[in-house]
Amino acid sequence: MKEQKRENFGSKLGIIMATAGSALGLGNIYRFPCEAGANGGGAFLIVYLVIALAIGTPLMIAEFVIGRRAKQGPIGAFRLLGRGREGQRRTPWTLVGYLGVVCAFLILAFYTTVAGWTLGYLGKAAANHFSGQDMTQISQQFTDFTNHPWLPIVCQLAFLALTAFVVARGVKQGIERWSKLLMPLLLVIMVILCVKSLTLPGAAEGLRFLFAPDFSKLTPHVIVSALGQSFFSLSIGMGALITYGSYISRSDNLVTTATSVALADTFVAILAGIVIFPAAFSFGIRPEAGASLAFTTLPLVFQQMTGGYFFCLIFFLLLVIATLTSTISLLEVIVTALTEELHLSRTAAAIAGTIGTAVIGVLATLSFRTASPIHISGRSFFDLLDHVTALYLMPIGGLLIVLFVGWRMRRKDMLDELSSGLVSEGSASRASRFLATSIRFIIRYIAPVAILVIFINQLT
Ligand code: PFF
Repeated sequence: MKEQKRENFGSKLGIIMATAGSALGLGNIYRFPCEAGANGGGAFLIVYLVIALAIGTPLMIAEFVIGRRAKQGPIGAFRLLGRGREGQRRTPWTLVGYLGVVCAFLILAFYTTVAGWTLGYLGKAAANHFSGQDMTQISQQFTDFTNHPWLPIVCQLAFLALTAFVVARGVKQGIERWSKLLMPLLLVIMVILCVKSLTLPGAAEGLRFLFAPDFSKLTPHVIVSALGQSFFSLSIGMGALITYGSYISRSDNLVTTATSVALADTFVAILAGIVIFPAAFSFGIRPEAGASLAFTTLPLVFQQMTGGYFFCLIFFLLLVIATLTSTISLLEVIVTALTEELHLSRTAAAIAGTIGTAVIGVLATLSFRTASPIHISGRSFFDLLDHVTALYLMPIGGLLIVLFVGWRMRRKDMLDELSSGLVSEGSASRASRFLATSIRFIIRYIAPVAILVIFINQLT
């Protein structure tokens, strides 16, 4: 048993990079194009933007507020702050913290399935496996890879081990250092790919699909999917940002940090759309092709262009990087819970969390096989985990988080958290007080009502 000394992020840049690292991931590069493709392109994009900025960003701020106020992970934070003025010893709010940790665990389990593929495909790209192949052969490679008896599992476990290695090193030396190195690299690679995709013949049709909204496609299902996607993409509703918030020092402002990350995340999702849709349309691939968009369309595109070997390699490197900084934040939620609740050392907690995740995660990977018995009510176990977390656990978690910050936390504590780190003199101080009050209003009234309406709509 070892008591942990709490670390902080070392700099404002470090916080933004680490939080952006959590937010930017498969959700942007793999899931966003799949969702946009399946839900009508431009119509989905508009709903997504409104939800990400009007509900997602205030929710990110709310999570930071809880984390920094309590200086603990989700379970401890809800236990501490949930006691309220009456100071009860037990509070049901602690359950919201547990819900977050369970949700992080389930996401990490299926997320590392695809994370493993990114690693496997990085290897394939390096070994030039796509050279001279047509669409059928490249699709067959994907089926063969996901159906291989052990390769996707080994890749998944290797990815988990890499994640555990970084998390075990701690907040500053592990998470912050790696994020600062990997995030700028990710942006540069995205921009290179974007330029390449836009110069393909027929790119305009893909852009039209992504940007021209067809409102006849706007169904309640599209709105719920956009809510699920924005929560997933911004890493909200399950305590990852409560955990990262607990490492933010008082001299940093939570509102500007959250807003910068939300904007960066949305920007990268759009960039991913600009990379994938023009390429897909250019090669006559249906935009709703799902997983195959990233794992078959792009390799096909790359191997038909000059310098394709290089572009393919950097694309999968990009996926590995983006995924790693997200798995780090998911494992960190579990590690914080284990160190704070069970007093394990960071290394022991990283190992225990990794082993637990591996057990469920391998089942998710196996369920991807064509003839897999791991199906529950017609869904693969992988899809079930994705569905349950994005459409149920994250919205419920998000709703409880905004209700907690809006109605349970003391008004003064919350306003203090929102304005701390901003200039506190003259008209700047008045402006910052106005901003804090407006955000509190959104968190108290608008966000809960919006989440509830969207959520109930999906149940009916
Ligand atoms: N935001 C990540 C992505 O877009 O890929 C996924 C994710 C990471 C969700 C961390 C939740 C989380 F806590």
